[in-house]
Amino acid sequence: MTERRRVFSGAQPTGEPHIGNLIGALNNWVAMQDDYDTVYCVVDLHAMTVPYVPSELEKERRQLAKMVLSVGVDPSRSLFYYQSDVPQHVELAWVLTTLAGVGQLERMTQYKEKSDRTGQSFGLLAYPVLMAADILVHKAHAVPVGDDQTQHLELTRDLAERFNSRYGELFPIPERITPEIGARVMSLTEPTSKMSKSDPSPRSRILLTDDDDQIVAKVRAAVTDTGAEVAYDWTAKPGISNLLEIYSFFTGRPIPDLIAEHRDGGYGAFKEAVAQAVAEGIRPIRKAYEALSDEEVAQVMSVGAERGRELAEGTMMTVREAVGLS
Ligand code: AMP
Ligand code: TRP
Repeated sequence: MTERRRVFSGAQPTGEPHIGNLIGALNNWVAMQDDYDTVYCVVDLHAMTVPYVPSELEKERRQLAKMVLSVGVDPSRSLFYYQSDVPQHVELAWVLTTLAGVGQLERMTQYKEKSDRTGQSFGLLAYPVLMAADILVHKAHAVPVGDDQTQHLELTRDLAERFNSRYGELFPIPERITPEIGARVMSLTEPTSKMSKSDPSPRSRILLTDDDDQIVAKVRAAVTDTGAEVAYDWTAKPGISNLLEIYSFFTGRPIPDLIAEHRDGGYGAFKEAVAQAVAEGIRPIRKAYEALSDEEVAQVMSVGAERGRELAEGTMMTVREAVGLS
């Protein structure tokens, strides 16, 4: 039997997960369970790189873990744990910092954006190195993420190559996996910026815990473009194009079909159809989320942590040997 290729991904417990997270990343986390050996983390150490309240982090970690399970990550098929429960991530991150260039880190778009908002910190600068360690400590071949992680993945690949050429071939060079449609879901209120957990407007995003009424209200209020024709054109009609991508995701139907059906029906009717599709798609997720208890989640995470430490320690033993620490 050939060994299955390994997948790793993580999501930060900062703010509530939205349909951008689902369409861009979580949906692939679930889908890849069929063909890959999958490892997923709630990356709580990453959430510490911006100012936060400890009691909130504790709650958000648990809520995100519950949501990941609710969208269909199955602990009998995937390894799933809290990043901070497996200290080998941090140990490998240290090794990788010695290979990372400060200039390259300073050029990261997310670093620039976040440090403008919350101030510079060494943790924020080192953030992508820890992300590289998350991926490499599991020797992952593929990483399902949204489009906003492209630069971080490039850095991961650079660090893996640098390690391999300096200390011997140890790490596969991981590949980024993004969906063809929906790798960058845009804000409902400002369709030229991405949908984001940190956007001050709650109407800019649909949460995976929103009920039908909230979803309908948010889609109805979504900013659309001038004109009346439903068309897929990111330059002239970013608002409608974004809704078309969301609609396509939740119905599984290709965009040209959706346009053919709605082209001349007006924005109002189109938005109603989108809202219904999103509400239907979110309902089972919300139900699963409400049905899961905190105790069940804690149990899954504790079993995952133990196995995570075993696997990550396997990699670290070879890393320590390669770099002269054994
Ligand atoms: P985060 O919540 O920032 O940890 O993101 C979790 C995952 O969701 C990452 O793979 C992101 O790339 C992805 N993601 C976040 N926002 C969006 C968005 N607006 N569209 C598509 N993917 C996204
Ligand atoms: N930086 C990612 C984000 O903001 C989260 C993350 C941390 C991650 N470690 C990772 C994603 C490893 C993929 C693989 O969404």
